[in-house]
Order: sequence, then C-alpha cells, then structure tokens
Amino acid sequence: MAERLITGPLSTPDTALEVTLRPSVFADFTGQAKVRERLEIAVQAALQRREPLDHVLLNGPPGLGKTTLAHIVAKAMGVSLKCTSGPTIEKAGDLAGLLTNLEEGDVLFIDEIHRLQKTIEEYLYPAMEDFKLDIIIDQGPNARSVRLNLPRFTLIGATTRSGLLTAPLLTRFGVRERLDYYGADDLQRIVLRSARLLAIETEEAGAREIARRSRGTPRIANNLLRRVRDYAQVRADGRITAAIADRALAMLEIDENGLDEMDKRILETLIVKFAGGPVGVNSLAVAVGEEPDTLEEVYEPYLIMEGYLKRTPQGRVATELSYRKLGLKPGDGAQPSLF
Ligand SMILES: Nc1ncnc2c1ncn2[C@@H]1O[C@H](COP(=O)(O)OP(=O)(O)OP(=O)(O)O)[C@@H](O)[C@H]1O
Ligand SMILES: [Mg+2]
Repeated sequence: MAERLITGPLSTPDTALEVTLRPSVFADFTGQAKVRERLEIAVQAALQRREPLDHVLLNGPPGLGKTTLAHIVAKAMGVSLKCTSGPTIEKAGDLAGLLTNLEEGDVLFIDEIHRLQKTIEEYLYPAMEDFKLDIIIDQGPNARSVRLNLPRFTLIGATTRSGLLTAPLLTRFGVRERLDYYGADDLQRIVLRSARLLAIETEEAGAREIARRSRGTPRIANNLLRRVRDYAQVRADGRITAAIADRALAMLEIDENGLDEMDKRILETLIVKFAGGPVGVNSLAVAVGEEPDTLEEVYEPYLIMEGYLKRTPQGRVATELSYRKLGLKPGDGAQPSLF
C-alpha cells in the first residue's frame, strides 16, 4: 500500500488565502494611484458631510481590482456591502428585495452591471436618483403601482464593458473610474506583498520576473506566484529566484512577454488562417474555440495595449509585432505552405 503522504491536519488551502491577499484598505492597494486618490477623497468628503457616498462605476478588464476596491470603499465608509451581479437580478422583485434590505449608507455592489436587463435598469434610475422604487403589484385589473421609499444607499457598479452601458445609466454614476493594466513596478510590489502573506521566500528579481509576465494583472500575478512556488518547492529549495521563476514560467508556457497559450493561438489563427485580417471577432472566436465576449473582454485588451492587435471597423488586424512574435513576416500568413 502506498504510504500516506498527508498525516496531520491539512493546512489552509490557498483559495481561502485569496481573501487575505485581497487588500482591505486603501493603503494596501498598490498602483492605480489616481483612481485611488479620487476615491479616497470622495469617501473622505462624504464622511465629513455625513452623507452616503455618490454612486461609483468601476470599469476595466478582469482581475485588476474592481471588486477589491468596492470592498475597500465600503469598509472606509464604515458601511456594509451587499453583493450581486447583473445577470442574477431577473425580476423587478429581486431588485426590490435587495434595495429594501439595505441600511442607510450601505453599498450595493452590482458586478457585471452591463449584463443587467433593460427592464431592471429602468427600475434602477429612480432608485439611484431619488431613492424611490415604483413597483407594480398584482396583475390584471388589480394591478397597481406602489412607491417604496428606499434608504439612501450607494451603488457601486463594476463592468468589463462600459461601452455596453446605456447613457441614462452611465450618467447616474457620480464617480466613474477606469482601471488600467498595472506596470511591472506595481505588480512586483503586489507579488512581494502576496509572497510575504503566503510566507514564500522570494527574491526581488524572482518577483520581478513574475510581475513582468503577468499580463499587467494582479490576479494573474498572484496565480503565477503560486504556480512558481510549486515549482520552486519540488524542483529546487523552495526559494523563488529569477532563474527559478523563468524556468517555472517556461514550463507553464508563459512566454517572455507574458503571452499565454491562448494569446498565441489567437495571433497564430489571425495570421495563418485569416492572412492577418481584417476578420470579425465572431469568426476569430469560433476559430480559436472561445466565446466572442471572452475574446473581447479578456484577451484582446491586453493584446491591443501591447501592440499585437488592432481593432478596425473592418475587423481585427494583426500588427507587424505579432508577425515577428511568431517568427513570420507580413504576407507570410497567406502562403499556402503554412497550411
Ligand atoms: N491594487 C491591488 N493591490 C494588490 N492586490 C490586488 C490589487 N488589485 C487586485 N489585487 C488582487 O487581485 C485579485 C483580483 O482582484 P479583483 O477580484 O478585485 O478583480 P476584479 O477587477 O473584480 O476582476 P473581475 O472583473 O474578474 O471581477 C484580488 O483578489 C487581489 O488579491
Ligand atoms: Mg470582480
């Protein structure tokens, strides 16, 4: 019989630690300096006036800290935060339930707010503006509209696609902030902080290597840190050096520029199958086996920012940089020899 590897009680899994990796106060939130300062001032001012905070919209690609900021803001205001998301609010009654359960000043956090149904959105307008909710009760001849008075609450909306929000909803947010990809310095700080919290021995250069290859995203940096830790533990003495990080990331097929398997598949498909474009996002998505939304929200923003891809009215186009990345020259993709 195989020897039992685990004897004593299991230690806390990292998923539970994700909670502790998430900064809970502004001071621990690294990077996004302008966004952070503007939010801190809005919070401070509201506290001084003893008013609820204006509604806040946080926009930006996944894993950059929108949910984290919503929690930080609620905590700084000294109020509780109730969490929900656009697609889970199906009926006006669901919204009424959420809103009437809030206390004065509380934060209602709606994730993926761009996926809110239009009908629900319309109920939200008077709720946000006048803290009133008109709902219809009963059906047929007995149907009547009832006006509910709501506590003065703060709505924090998060979205990866603010372009999909309607103007009336957009303009009801007093504070609108966009999070951008993090630079390597900020990500290095985040990696070192997480390493400290998880008690992983990490050299500055090791953290730098992880930071450089994390697609500008704290969530990815934290995930890579854990994978590199596994590698360091099994293949070395547990310490994360630049060389160990490099070997671990190469094993995970994360390249020098932080592009992963999917990024490379997208560029390769665009160049080889579609001769560099222009190609519509739907065709590209089918060809790489991914949802168009995911392609647009998760992969493209980084590829565009790094200059591998362009969005044109005709569709997606590969840049010279992406040809070089794949060791090709513009025009190569059309060569039949590549098929
Ligand atoms: N500025 C930061 N400093 C330190 N850690 C951060 C920062 N921003 C994000 N993180 C870490 O990254 C993780 C992901 O952040 P968060 O869940 O807030 O992203 P999100 O923008 O809400 O993503 P999604 O759009 O997928 O919901 C957090 O758990 C936290 O550990
Ligand atoms: Mg989130």
